[in-house]
Amino acid sequence: MSKDIGQYLKKLDINAFDEMIPRRRSVINSASPELPQSDFNANRVARALHPEVQYLLVSEIIDHAGDVKSFLLEPAPGTDTAALAYFRAGQYISIKLRIGDSVITRPYSVSSSPAEALKNKYTLTIKRLEDGFASSYIFDHWQVGTVVEASGPQGEFVYEPLRDANNLVALAGGSGITPVYSLAQAIADGTEEATLTILYGSRKTDQIIFKEELDNLAATCGKINVVHVISDEEETKGCEKGFITAELIKKYAPDSDYSIFVSGPAAMYEFLDQELAKLGLPRRRIRYEVFGEYKNPEQDPAFPADAAGKTFQLQVDMHGSKKTVTAKSGESMLVAMERAGIEVPSICRSGECGFCRSRLVSGSHYVPERLDYRRMADVENNFIHPCCTFATGDGHIRVASDEGDIKRGTMDQRKKKVGLIMTLIMSIMMGIVATIISRSGMPPQALATAPPLPAMMFSNVLMSLVVGIIIWLIIPSARWGNALVAKAKALPGTFKFTALNCLPISAVNSVIISMVVSFINVSQSHAQIPAAFAPPLGAMWFGAWIKMLPVMLIIAYITAIIVSPLVVKWAKMPAGPPVKK
Ligand code: FES
Repeated sequence: MSKDIGQYLKKLDINAFDEMIPRRRSVINSASPELPQSDFNANRVARALHPEVQYLLVSEIIDHAGDVKSFLLEPAPGTDTAALAYFRAGQYISIKLRIGDSVITRPYSVSSSPAEALKNKYTLTIKRLEDGFASSYIFDHWQVGTVVEASGPQGEFVYEPLRDANNLVALAGGSGITPVYSLAQAIADGTEEATLTILYGSRKTDQIIFKEELDNLAATCGKINVVHVISDEEETKGCEKGFITAELIKKYAPDSDYSIFVSGPAAMYEFLDQELAKLGLPRRRIRYEVFGEYKNPEQDPAFPADAAGKTFQLQVDMHGSKKTVTAKSGESMLVAMERAGIEVPSICRSGECGFCRSRLVSGSHYVPERLDYRRMADVENNFIHPCCTFATGDGHIRVASDEGDIKRGTMDQRKKKVGLIMTLIMSIMMGIVATIISRSGMPPQALATAPPLPAMMFSNVLMSLVVGIIIWLIIPSARWGNALVAKAKALPGTFKFTALNCLPISAVNSVIISMVVSFINVSQSHAQIPAAFAPPLGAMWFGAWIKMLPVMLIIAYITAIIVSPLVVKWAKMPAGPPVKK
């Protein structure tokens, strides 16, 4: 049957899909940027449970044994995150970090109970790894008050009563204890209904994370049992010595049916694969926590030996732009692209969530079997998850689904709309100011013959609007604003972001509008002056323009800074984190 499906998929014309995508994209992009009605209760619940982004404030930092810290997080004031999304014990959130020119993500398990999320608190417990690019950055830069950008809760490493036995045995190693600790608290506070035996492996007793907390839970909750397993110490009083073996699991596991949850480093998984096989449990009774970077793929027997230790050129297409990056055989394509400054969507970084799904147009690659969660149709049609795909030759990759492009298209439309509204408001303002300045500089005889104030103001505002719209249509000042913001690495929602973004639009509009309006006004006045006394029109206009320009610049800039956050909110553009204190 599956062979038939494979044959069928091979015959599918994937190019037809490729043509369909741009067509669909152009139809969607030409539609109204207005979001459909989405204020039903079901939509609100869905948004609350699965927010695209959460802005979190570090409210407290707690040190633990073994270079481990807990970061307590709450909703960042002044952002779109009013309340934290609820999660299930064992899930993680993906943190977005901007380090140098790279934007990377890292998934970290929430170590607190889901009950805490209802009080708007998450705890992330993170170990600083020796070669940890992200963990070192977090340890060196996160302080109380830091605002962090994160995904909604994700992951399948959760107790599911319909699937799992309600006696659970958790096998944890090192910082792999974090999702298990969350589960233990959830059982203790009644969020989950199950019994839990934790076999927790550490090298030394002083490296046990949450030792006191786990022992307290075991002492106070009859449903929880904790066994510490120490590998690198002779004296292990009150603990088991060695590694978590099949014998040890049998010794502590309940007599009745049970499910096993495994969370720890890759080396532990390899060891436990053999030990768990000895127990003869059905596969559905064993769950692995799979998030995190896959290390040393070149040591896998299935990795093509002739590709090991080499570097390859990868052409990357994303959102219409092309870039060639260098990919090392031992690093995932995702890491190679991030290193080159490409912001690839990703959450789990281990093949599970499908967020980074991309098309490998050409080139050979290796995917570790354990992380290959792709659908058969994706495998047949060369779709890959770059987070767990390793280049074994030069290649060409088209990143991410068209969904990103569609969202980007809608976002571009909203940006255009914001630009137009800003232009209209600033033009009206400048028309009014130009009238006042022009009249104040008119000689008495010109003022006597000039049109009345309302008529002059009306014509100046009209002229200013026409000029403003022409500027909006032909001068990419909004794009220049974006470039300034990107260069300064200013975050959305901050004053720096608004101030830089508004600079080109207000400068361009005030220079050109003041030129045009002053010329029209001056030429009218000039016509009223007897020819014998009239100075040259050019000199008169230049004088009036120079007088008008600084006032127009200031008024335009102040108007843009005040008005743009309101317009952005009205256009439903996402707000960013607040200004850092
Ligand atoms: S980031 Fe989740 S599958 Fe790649």
